[in-house]
Parts: sequence; C-alpha cells; structure tokens
Amino acid sequence: MDNAFHRLTSEHCDLVIRTQPFAEIVYFGPHLQHFSAQDCQSLLRPVANGKLDVDAPLTLAAELGRGLFGSPGIEGHRNGLDASPVFSTRQVEQNGHSLLITSEDTQAGLRLISEIQLSGSGVLQIRHGLRNLRAEPWQVDRLAVTLPVADRAREVMAFHGRWIREFQPHRVTLDHDSFVIENRRGRTSHEHFPALIAGSHGFSEQQGEVWGVHLGWSGNHRLRCEVKTDGRRYLQAEALYLAGEMALAEGATLWTPWLYASYSASGLNGMSQQFHRFLRDEIVRFPDNKARPVHLNTWEGIYFQHDPDYIMQMASRAAELGVERFIIDDGWFRGRHHDRAALGDWYLDTTKYPNGLTPVIDHVKSLGMEFGIWVEPEMINPDSDLFRAHPDWVLKLPGYEQATMRYQWLLDLSNPQVYDYLLERMSWLLGEHAIDYVKWDMNRELVQAGHEGKAAADAQTRHYYRLLDELNRRYPHIEFESCASGGGRIDYEVLKRCHRFWASDNNDALERNTIQRGMSYFFPLEVMGAHIGNRHCHATFRQHSIEFRGLTALFGHMGIELDPIKADAAEGSGYQRYVQLYKQWRPLLHSGDFWRVDMPDSTMQVQGVVSRDKAAALFLVSQLAMPDYSLAGNLRFPGLEPGARYQVSIADHPDIQVVGKGGHTMRQLPPWMNEGIELSGEWLAQAGLALPVLDPESAILISVKRI
Ligand code: DGJ
Repeated sequence: MDNAFHRLTSEHCDLVIRTQPFAEIVYFGPHLQHFSAQDCQSLLRPVANGKLDVDAPLTLAAELGRGLFGSPGIEGHRNGLDASPVFSTRQVEQNGHSLLITSEDTQAGLRLISEIQLSGSGVLQIRHGLRNLRAEPWQVDRLAVTLPVADRAREVMAFHGRWIREFQPHRVTLDHDSFVIENRRGRTSHEHFPALIAGSHGFSEQQGEVWGVHLGWSGNHRLRCEVKTDGRRYLQAEALYLAGEMALAEGATLWTPWLYASYSASGLNGMSQQFHRFLRDEIVRFPDNKARPVHLNTWEGIYFQHDPDYIMQMASRAAELGVERFIIDDGWFRGRHHDRAALGDWYLDTTKYPNGLTPVIDHVKSLGMEFGIWVEPEMINPDSDLFRAHPDWVLKLPGYEQATMRYQWLLDLSNPQVYDYLLERMSWLLGEHAIDYVKWDMNRELVQAGHEGKAAADAQTRHYYRLLDELNRRYPHIEFESCASGGGRIDYEVLKRCHRFWASDNNDALERNTIQRGMSYFFPLEVMGAHIGNRHCHATFRQHSIEFRGLTALFGHMGIELDPIKADAAEGSGYQRYVQLYKQWRPLLHSGDFWRVDMPDSTMQVQGVVSRDKAAALFLVSQLAMPDYSLAGNLRFPGLEPGARYQVSIADHPDIQVVGKGGHTMRQLPPWMNEGIELSGEWLAQAGLALPVLDPESAILISVKRI
C-alpha cells in the first residue's frame, strides 16, 4: 500500500498523491519535514450513512462514475455510449519532481495521461491528455483539471474586469455549492482572468493560507470552486468547448491546458512570489537576457497620423529623454487612416511612407534605440482589399450575419490559406525590416466562431499559438508584446511566446494602480507594460501630476505613450527623471520579491520589491483617494533581514505642500523625510516608519539600503 503514495516536494509545499488503484490527490499543503507514506493511512475516510455504501474518492479525473456527485472532470460520449468513464491506474513513473500517471477505462475505450510537476519555486503544474482507443470518435464535452484543497479554504477570490478596467479582485465566502467563472469571449478576456484563489478565513496579503490556480489558456474557459455536500472542496479548471467542437478520432489525444497552482502559508504575497519565481525560472525568456528597455509608443501621441519626418523627430526627442525602444503603433499599413478599414492589408502604406519604413528604422537605430511595430494579424475589416478578394476567409458560421466589433471580423485561422497568407505577410514584415519588437494586438471577441460550419473557437486559439511559435522560431531575436484592447489576452500560455503584456488601454495612473496591483498577483513587474501617458488621460480625462504618473509606471516595464514633441519643459524633464529612476532601479524591480502591504486605510496602496539578498528595497506608497484618517500611520516593511541595519530615505515625492495654505493635508513632514534614517530590519518590520499625509492621487517612493 505504501508505494501507492507518491510525494512531490518543494521548499514551501508538498503534494501527496495516491496512485493505486486510481489516482487521488490526498494532500496539497505546507512542506512536510517528516513525511512517511504510512501516515497517509490516517486519511482513510469513514462511509457516511445515507450515501453509497463505499467510499467515494475525489479522483484526479473526478469521475462521476465513482460516485462523486459533483462537477466531473470528464464529460463526453461516443454517440451516446461510453459516457461515464471510470479510470484505473495502469502505469506510474516518478522522475524527481515529475509524475506521469497513465490510467485506462477499457470499457469506454479511453486512456487518461496525467502529468504532474512541482517546480523548485513551489508551483504545481498539472495537465491531462485524453486518448480515444476506439474507432468511433469520442465527443469531448468537458475535460478539466481538478485540484482538491483543504476544507479550511472557505473564501474564494477571483478577478472581474472590462476594457480599461482589468484585474479587479472580488471575494465570496463559499460554504456550499459552487462558485464558477465562465469565459465565452474566445480570448483570455478582460472580464474573466482565468484564476481562482481559495483561502482560509480572512486571508490577506500577508496572512492566511491560500491555494491559487491559473489556467494557461487564451480562449474560452471555465473555473470552479466547488464544495461537496460532504464538505470536501476542490478547484477545477478547463478549456470550455462549444457544442460539437471537440471530437476525438481514434488514437488522437486531447490535452488540457496546464493548470498552475501555488500554495502559500503566508498570504497572497507568498503565492505571488512563487508564481513570479516560477515564471522567471521556467517560462519567461528575454533574448540575450536584456534589461527591459524603456519604450516610447506612438499610439496616444499621433494615433493614425503617420508622417515619417514627424515620427523621426519624435524618435529624436524620445532618445534625448532616455528612451531605448521606439514603437510605431497602428496606422502604418495600406489604407489604415482610421479604425474602420485596412486590417488584413499587411503592406506598407506608401502614400504615408513613400521611401519605405527603412529610413525611419535607420534613424531610430542611429539614435541607439530598438525599433518596434504594431500588428493585428488575426483580423480583417470589411473595408479591406483582403476581404474584397477573400470574403470567405472570415471566421463565422454560414447563414448568419456576423456582427463587427471595432468595425472588424476575425480571420479563420483554421483555413490553411489564411494561415499561410498571414505567415507570409508577417515574414515579409519581420524578415525584410530590421525590427526588434512587435506589439501583437487583438481587438475583438469571437462570436459564432466557425470553420466549415462547425464551432472553431478552440482551434482559433491553437492556430494563433502556432503562428506565433513559427514567427518566434524564424525570428528568435524579436520580442513580442501581447495586447488585446489592453489586457484582454494575458495568461501563462501566451507568455511562453511573448515578452510583455499591454496591461490596459487605460493610462490613468489612478486606475493603473489597481489594475497593475491586480495583475501582480500572477505576474512579475518585468512583463507588465506600464506607460506614462498624457497629463490629461485619454481614457478617463482625469489629470495627474508627472510624479504620480511616473511613479506608477515605474512599477512595471516602463514606457512613455504620448507625443514628446508637444510636451512642455516641465513634462519633458519629468519624463527624463522617471526614465532615469527606472533605469537605476530596474535591476531590483525586475528580479526581487514583490510585496503588497496590508494597510489599515484602504485609500492607501503600498507595494514594494525587496532584492533576493535583502540588501535593497524600494517601496511605493500611493494615496488613491482622500485619506480616511488625518494621520497616515506607520508603514511596516516586509521582507527585510531582521538583524541588518538599513538606511531609509525618500527616493521621490511630489511637490508636497507643507505650509498649511491651500487646503493640503500636511503641515509638517515626518523628520525622516528630510534627512533619512537608519533602522534595523526588525524595527522596520515590527514598528515601521511614520508616513506623510498625502494628497489624493499622489505617491512617494521610499528606498531602503542595507548599511
Ligand atoms: C488597441 C491597443 O490596446 C492600443 O494600445 C492601440 O495599439 C490600438 N489598439 C491601436 O489600434
């Protein structure tokens, strides 16, 4: 019996799984220092009255056929038959931190292959492959990954959102039934980021136990937290298939997306730090390990008004400001003068660029910057040469009108001609120009996604990956940014192919504070595109100081998105200052441990990064609204070395008014802000540092350096 239990172990957490005669996760929690397989006997359950007369396991495949009475992990059939599979283990291979379990149901003619890995960072990865062993196709309605969590995980946190307001967390207490998020928008979506966090009562940034999961998939999905009537609870995640979309031919295997899970005994920060470390160790690859260059993106500067002479002037000014990568956004290709035409026509607009793109690229490079360009390959406008030539290339179902969104439709990537056309056009662009960077946009959702009359949303996502994989293979030096009207396609599977996310089309620093904080639960700062936008934000019409905008963009992969020629002297020197500050601190920001700090006043948001060796840290205090209290309280710094002494000083602050005139919030600064202060790591963590009273929509930056 003992060798029926396998353990995967890491510094922070362990997974124990029983593998015979079927696979069942029996433990996913804190790291065990004294594990003995024998001890697992203690978990053998009683059989309750009024139930089946046998124990009903919560297996890896969560089969209904074993008496689960909950949301099963597999649903489907073979023309109505073989619809309730029950799997028995055939083979188990453990290789260090990886486990491969092969199970079969010979009655139903199905094989299940389960891959489970626990990385050194503590992130657990699980996926299943379902293989049809019979001649007749097996229609897959659902195939999910199920992860049991402890019954003390009573609260559930998820993220809602929309365009220009991504990654907004919300919570429920779940004692019965299910909490489900379903995404049918065909891309990862602004609305339903594919993640769930279950945790102990009142879990917070710094306290409580949490089990967080993310499904690495850029299409339709369903995530669920379910509490069974017997009190057991589990998280479940899957790609969501449309009716008839997924039929398995004989010998074919359908793989679920990877489920990524992280357990933390120290609140949400521990979970995030494990996810960040995992991405840094295993997923994100920057060509030549390059530091994340400062961007200038032309979009909110010139929109569709492309004049190469003017763009070159913008580039010259950008270089003076310290910009390292210059990106031409939408508007460069044939007939693209507004958003109602030309998507699909991936040829240079020679009326705008009569001498080609090369003079602009050469100019940008002569200034020592990289050159980037915007594309949106998956789309087609009805008003385009491509549509006039190939009206049948649209992703739709025959016999129905397909609504446009931003005046556009999707191209059917399952059509090999469409795929080949896009590969050829993108290869022309990337192969014949000295391009270092591509912002890959995707500005509409999938409605009645069809190929040859059948649903094809899942296939669309897979072909998108295939196209991007091929371009990555052909042009390994080029970096890609994933953008979908801002943050509509942000997930780990995209990150295997991209190097940056455009977090949101909202450059309002106030909104960005919450959006970026929400994104930080699963993503580190170096992949989070964060731009200093115009003083008058184009998304909200709010106005913010350059300090607030600059400091907000500092906690990300910084860029500027405006016309630097039009900026006045104060703005210009502000951009320069924050670009320099970013360059100074990015080695720390992009490698250290990220902390969100619980503050008693919810109008204040604090985040920081502490270097892995705890020698340096940078904390940002953002005052989002009018403070609740007349004093701001003490900031207790997490993550430092208790026994070390640190020099704490102000690294940046707005033009704080302390004279008591004009209705500002503070008459006298806390003394440390004038001359800095030396404190122990322990004191900083336990007692803290008195914060200034800040005006709403302002921020300060505090640097901490070991002496
Ligand atoms: C939507 C993106 O999110 C913006 O940043 C910009 O690239 C526009 N598309 C261009 O059309």
